[in-house]
Parts: sequence; structure tokens; C-alpha cells
Amino acid sequence: MSQHTSNKYVVTFLSIAILSLLLFTFNKFDKLGPVEIQCPSQLLPSQTEADMIVLLWTWPFGQHFTLNECPKPFNAPRCFFTADRTWYPRANAVIIHHRDVCSSKNQMPQIPRPEGQYWVWFNLESPSHAPNLGMMDNLINLTMSYRSDSDIFTPYGWLQKKEVLQNFTIPGKSNLVAWVVSNWNPSSKRVKLYNELKDHIKVDVYGQQHKSLEMKDLKDVLSKYKFYLSFENSIHTDYITEKLWRNALMSGTVPVVLGPPRETYERFIPSDSFIHVDDFPSAKDLANYLLELDKDPQKYERYFKWRSRLQAFGNFDWQTHYCKACVAMLRAPPYKSISSIAKWYT
Ligand SMILES: *[C@@H]1O[C@H](CO)[C@@H](O)[C@H](O)[C@H]1NC(C)=O
Ligand SMILES: *[C@@H]1O[C@H](CO)[C@@H](O)[C@H](O)[C@H]1NC(C)=O
Repeated sequence: MSQHTSNKYVVTFLSIAILSLLLFTFNKFDKLGPVEIQCPSQLLPSQTEADMIVLLWTWPFGQHFTLNECPKPFNAPRCFFTADRTWYPRANAVIIHHRDVCSSKNQMPQIPRPEGQYWVWFNLESPSHAPNLGMMDNLINLTMSYRSDSDIFTPYGWLQKKEVLQNFTIPGKSNLVAWVVSNWNPSSKRVKLYNELKDHIKVDVYGQQHKSLEMKDLKDVLSKYKFYLSFENSIHTDYITEKLWRNALMSGTVPVVLGPPRETYERFIPSDSFIHVDDFPSAKDLANYLLELDKDPQKYERYFKWRSRLQAFGNFDWQTHYCKACVAMLRAPPYKSISSIAKWYT
């Protein structure tokens, strides 16, 4: 190879290197530029004025839903939500849904965190179904879960005061006790209790391996039962799910709950709105009490009194959880760091 040819190679190589560097730099500047010029296809005029840019690191369980159209009363005009990771460098908060990333640390953001950005740990599963919590050590700023001591409290349901007192009409009852169960674990507390209960009272069981029940019929079918077994799959602090909110309260039936202690439930719902299994020394005593209420309409109807003042709502769409997060994040402390999610959550 002559000296001349090899010089030519050097010149070509240098030109490509300089050009790449320039492109890279421009690209970087572009990312750091003002909000208004980025991702125009996603921006509406009001969104450029958002106080907070919130990046969904993943769609939860891969499920897509509408962003930036929060239902009342959770309007979140001060936040701009996006699931487009090119926004990462300028996001004020990144919401990390635990179950989508917990298989490996590589699923987490790999680029250094911009100053002031919150990483929000989002999880609605109980500790029994939230593996690898250790990988969140010293990474997370805010928590978002069904636990009421989360920075962002996103429960499965809640009660709202009615504007005017309104007598509640109890749906017509033709059946006694229902239970919907999909995960049948014979050694679980709830299956053991069911096995004892069924010797003393008739329980209709729906779900996989049992009577079929389509989601669209759920409310109709369950409303015809006097009682519903709101048995949680595992017992943890504040872990109260749609089994209480949707299946029982929103269906107009009386929940028989197995989960955290009665005091926990009473923080969220009136003491006379549910029956707690811990209040009975045995399954037989519980069954006898339900049979007694079945024969005493006046006593049974007392479990509906609260409904003239309050109405139950449930949160079964992802959108509402994220909209609530916006409101809470605007009030978050400027600095917070959580050394161990595991220590708090389990
Ligand atoms: C609700 O029903 C009770 C008893 O039937 C009745 O006395 C009361 O006036 C009703 N209240 C309303 C707000 O309709
Ligand atoms: C968030 O937590 C990380 C890790 O502890 C910390 O470096 C960062 O300063 C925190 N940011 C905020 C806004 O609290």
C-alpha cells in the first residue's frame, strides 16, 4: 500500500468520525431543547404547559390505554403523560411498573438519571406476587401502590359521599352465598376455610374449574346473592382488592371478608358494611350467622344502611391510577430516596 493511499484512508476515516460526532451532538442538543419542539405529533398546546412530564417506562402488563384523557374527578391537566422513552432525558417522573421489569435489572432505565427526576415504583400485586424487590434498592424516590402509606395511594376502590341522602334499593335476592375464584390453591387459607364452610352452608363457586361466569355478567349474577366471599389470595397490610370493591360492594351484596384485620377494613369502609371471618371462632359459627341473617331480613338489611350516604367505586382501568399519580406527584417532596422497597413492602 502506498503512502498516498493510506493517507486517503485516514482522511476518509476522520471525516466520518467528525460527521458522526456532529450528528450525535445535535441529537443530544435536540433532546435537551425546550419541551415545545419535541415530539410535535404527541403535543397539544395545553400539554406544552404541563408542570410535569410523566414517562410510563412500560405499559403495565403490556396493556395499552388512553393517556392524557383523565376521567373526572381525576383530571390531570398539569401532567403530560407519555410512554415514548425518547422523553426520558426530560421526564420529571418515570413510573416503573414492577412486574414488567422485575425479571432483570436490564429492564430498568440504563441511561443516567437526570437531576430532579423521580423514579416511581408502581405495583398493585401483594408481596407474595412481587418478586425481586431487592433490585429496587437505592433506586426509587416514590412508591405507588394499594398501601395507604404509599407516596401515591392507588387503591382498588373507595367510597364517595353522596350529594344527597338516597335510600338504596337492595337488589332482588334469590341465592345465598357466592364466591369467584380463579387461582385454586388447596393449601391457601381461603380454600381451607371454604372447605370447612361448605359443610354447613351452600356456597356457589364460580371461576376456572367451577361454574363459568363472564365478566359482563358478573355484577348481575353476584347481585342476586345475599353474601359474597371476598377472600384475598394472601394476607398483607392493606391488601384489599376488587374482590371486596367490585365483586361485593359494587354488586350490591354483603362481603364476607378474609384478608387483613377488621381494623384495616374499617379504615376504608363502615364497620356495618361487611362481615369479617376473624369475628367467628369457627367456620360453623360463621355459617350459622349467615343462615341467621338469611332468616332475619331486618338484621340483614342493616348491612345496607351505609349505602344511603356513601357509594362504592372501583378502579379497574389503568388510566385512573396514573391520573391519580399526577395529582400526588405535584405534592411530592423535592427530594426522597427509598433504600429498600422490600423492607417496607414485605
Ligand atoms: C328512606 O327510607 C326510610 C324508611 O323506609 C324513610 O323513613 C326515609 O324517609 C327514606 N329516606 C329518603 C331520603 O328517601
Ligand atoms: C431519587 O433517588 C436517587 C437514588 O437514591 C437519588 O440519587 C436522587 O437524587 C433522588 N431524586 C429525587 C428527586 O429525590
